Amino acid sequence: MSQNNLRVLISSEQIQARIVELGAQIDKDYPEGPIYLIGILKGAYVFLADLSRAIKRSTRIEFMAISSYGRGKTSSGEVKVVKDLDTVIEGADVVIVEDIVDSGVTLTYLTQLLQQRRPRSIRIAALLDKPERRLRPVEVAYVGFQIPDEFVVGYGLDYADDYRNLPDVCILEQS
Ligand code: IMP
Ligand code: MG
Repeated sequence: MSQNNLRVLISSEQIQARIVELGAQIDKDYPEGPIYLIGILKGAYVFLADLSRAIKRSTRIEFMAISSYGRGKTSSGEVKVVKDLDTVIEGADVVIVEDIVDSGVTLTYLTQLLQQRRPRSIRIAALLDKPERRLRPVEVAYVGFQIPDEFVVGYGLDYADDYRNLPDVCILEQS
């Protein structure tokens, strides 16, 4: 069995400070009315919990689940909705809340899908962005941190469903 090493890339203190800034920015950017925060399961659950509490405006919390990665480190390239919204978003201000933008395949698919339901606006908030890995252009309105091309875990992000509960974002090194 391979031995995995974890190295802290972004500490929980850094994450919390950045999320306070993102929440304040979102509060400023939106007109009256509730903001629909759509968390993408499972990876975004921690970020959504903290970001939603950094937003002082009225919000609605919704979830979707998408599968594209299976258990590996690279995308299968195939995106599938595993759990859809159970609310109507027509006319709503929607923020898709994602853990990380990597190839951009997931968010391109998701944005197109939700756009068909005619929300008033749709933006993306992602805790992490790996711009070097992009295959599809995606506009991410709210980015926590840009990171290098390393596989990271913690703060909701997993490797084969492990490590989601780590408070820091860590680089997973396999030896
Ligand atoms: P994309 O479609 O390639 O942009 O994939 C985005 C999804 O891939 C994210 O929601 C994560 O679940 C997963 N992912 C991408 N990079 C990492 C990583 O470094 N660690 C853990 N999951 C990752
Ligand atoms: Mg994921």
